[in-house]
Amino acid sequence: MLNVGIIGCGGIARAHCEAIACLDNVQVTAVADLFEAPRRHYMDTYGIPKEYSSHTELLQDDDIDAVAVVLGHQLHHRLTVDSLNAGKHVLVEKPMALSLEQCDDMIAAADANDRKLMVGLSQHFYGTSLAAKAILDSGELGPLITAVCYMSKNWGHRGRRPQYRSRYHGGGMWLSNGVHVVDRLTWVMASQAMSVSASIGTRAHYQASDDSATAFIRYKNGLAGVAVSVGFADGMPDYSCQVICANGTLRFSQHGERYVRVGKGDQWEDRPFEDPAAEMKYEWKSFVDAIEQNIEPPTHGAYGRHVMEILFAAEQSAITSEEVVLESGLDWTTQTSGSPVTIEHGWV
Ligand SMILES: NC(=O)c1ccc[n+]([C@@H]2O[C@H](COP(=O)([O-])OP(=O)(O)OC[C@H]3O[C@@H](n4cnc5c(N)ncnc54)[C@H](O)[C@@H]3O)[C@@H](O)[C@H]2O)c1
Repeated sequence: MLNVGIIGCGGIARAHCEAIACLDNVQVTAVADLFEAPRRHYMDTYGIPKEYSSHTELLQDDDIDAVAVVLGHQLHHRLTVDSLNAGKHVLVEKPMALSLEQCDDMIAAADANDRKLMVGLSQHFYGTSLAAKAILDSGELGPLITAVCYMSKNWGHRGRRPQYRSRYHGGGMWLSNGVHVVDRLTWVMASQAMSVSASIGTRAHYQASDDSATAFIRYKNGLAGVAVSVGFADGMPDYSCQVICANGTLRFSQHGERYVRVGKGDQWEDRPFEDPAAEMKYEWKSFVDAIEQNIEPPTHGAYGRHVMEILFAAEQSAITSEEVVLESGLDWTTQTSGSPVTIEHGWV
């Protein structure tokens, strides 16, 4: 049984607790939060026995094998490194960190301590995403041509905590939610990105971070995709991803209307997908499998870093109005997987 500590008892810790409750080889044994009320809420709701008022105390608990870092973006780096140095495996929420140097630090700490590091790119693990990716990988639709992925939704400005409205704290729509779009797009494109051109701005709100982005991403397999991430003030949400292949079109979405559809002969056909009881079930299963089987999780540190590299390059492109080449360069022969991954968990 893997014993987990959750650091940060805010809104999304609920989804982590519910996912863990679906699995029989992992349990939450402790929570840490600065405040007693959220700690109590989680202990009472999920029957969690232990609580700590700081992550440093929780990390001294030898019963805990792994932690989930589930709090503000500006804390991801420090708490992840501390947790890895304390010998815990880490599932850190998205976005991985606020700079590539921080990502490198986190990966180095995982390597130095021989612990697993996974980034909680939850949309990678939705039932609809997994079914869509399986269709693409089956070859049924033929060679991939291009993809466009969206997350356009109400930004919910009034209810947003201040740190999510501040780029300085790693907030804004692009880092908070565009990260999911770039993950899904990069995953379906099945290649490493090589350059990005983007427009990013603050167009629907007054805040110290962006609320809208459109990025054109070139991949090393010669293809390109588009990521759209908009937090509007009013409108209709769209979380869909459309992938156009030579012999068919694939469209999938997890939010609002849930579907996986294949288009052939001018007709859409609905395809089955699993709807697990908890939306993060397969994220947690992947993390636990990685620890138990000593394999890399699908959204491992190097992958999470690559997603951040695309996000940061897009920000740079939006400032310079130029296409930004990523650090591995334009040459497809420099494509790497970043770490030894199995075919099953590979992303290149
Ligand atoms: N994967 C997803 O779909 C998804 C969805 C929502 C949020 N998130 C991410 O999850 C993370 C947390 O989001 P949230 O909305 O739950 O945050 P939140 O702001 O609601 O909660 C954070 C909690 O951490 C506590 N905290 C702050 N500093 C602390 C410290 N030093 N030690 C211990 N506790 C501390 C706060 O008291 C608060 O209870 C963010 O990275 C966010 O982007 C992911």
